[in-house]
Amino acid sequence: MNYFKGKVVLITGGSRGVGFATAKELARRGAKVVIMARGEKRLLDSELKLQDLDAEVVAVVGDVGEWEDAQKVVAAAVNRFGRLDILVNNAGVSMRGHFADLAPEVCAAVARTNLMGCIFMTRAAIPHLLATKGQVVFISSIAGLFGLPGASIYCATKKALTGLAESLRLELIPMGLHVGVVYLGYTEHDPEKRIIAADGSLTVPDRPAHHTQVHVASKIVRMLEKRQKQLIMTRVGTIGWICYRLSPALVECAVLLAQKRHLGIFKRFS
Ligand SMILES: NC(=O)c1ccc[n+]([C@@H]2O[C@H](COP(=O)([O-])OP(=O)(O)OC[C@H]3O[C@@H](n4cnc5c(N)ncnc54)[C@H](OP(=O)(O)O)[C@@H]3O)[C@@H](O)[C@H]2O)c1
Repeated sequence: MNYFKGKVVLITGGSRGVGFATAKELARRGAKVVIMARGEKRLLDSELKLQDLDAEVVAVVGDVGEWEDAQKVVAAAVNRFGRLDILVNNAGVSMRGHFADLAPEVCAAVARTNLMGCIFMTRAAIPHLLATKGQVVFISSIAGLFGLPGASIYCATKKALTGLAESLRLELIPMGLHVGVVYLGYTEHDPEKRIIAADGSLTVPDRPAHHTQVHVASKIVRMLEKRQKQLIMTRVGTIGWICYRLSPALVECAVLLAQKRHLGIFKRFS
């Protein structure tokens, strides 16, 4: 039986990148898909592409960091399809820069999207997800497993998602809800993807990708199907995570050494 047939899935940041690839994979499997992003043109283009797959789709322009928008997109999903089964908290922004150089506005913007966005979206969706005994999944990063230099606020927000997921799991699993976290490694990106620099300017990512979007999307979909609570995408991430649990100091030394010597392995973390 097709697990996703007729299920209603809301994907934040579903207009491009990992979010859109996941939306496509779910649409192909018969899910009804709701995508949300701030940029209207790209979002509507993506809606058309999903409709070409014969999927039932709703696209809602909105900012996950705004409580009213979170309520609006959840209401749009439920009004159109009558239910909500899965929320994929994917929308996120990346930043680079040493903490001492970060403009306060950059810190606030990253925290607002990556953390408050997940909190608002999940809070707005919870009553409907409980009604379907559904799922909420957070798209985190290897940077959410342990701290990394030059990515402090990003790491802080992604690590906070683990705490949020762990608490939600304890509160909501008895009510039948599944909570999962995906720790992504560096993934193929669309040409439009930008990273926020310390001064707030936008830069193009400059590192090689270790996964294609299609591969990541297929792993996320499999995780949803199996209602797994954790997915760590890279081998280095898994080893790092195990080592960090045994000895955080050891991982700190390894990260600092890799950074100092410009080792390629350092680039695999975030
Ligand atoms: N790509 C990687 O290598 C990598 C590695 C680890 C973790 N991740 C995580 O994976 C997720 C997806 O990454 P990606 O590379 O696919 O990103 P991306 O290509 O930059 O796409 C981000 C998506 O989120 C939307 N978005 C951003 N801010 C938003 C906001 N405030 N409200 C609503 N939508 C918003 C964007 O559309 P608009 O800009 O139009 O709103 C876009 O649809 C993120 O959470 C990221 O942190 C990615």
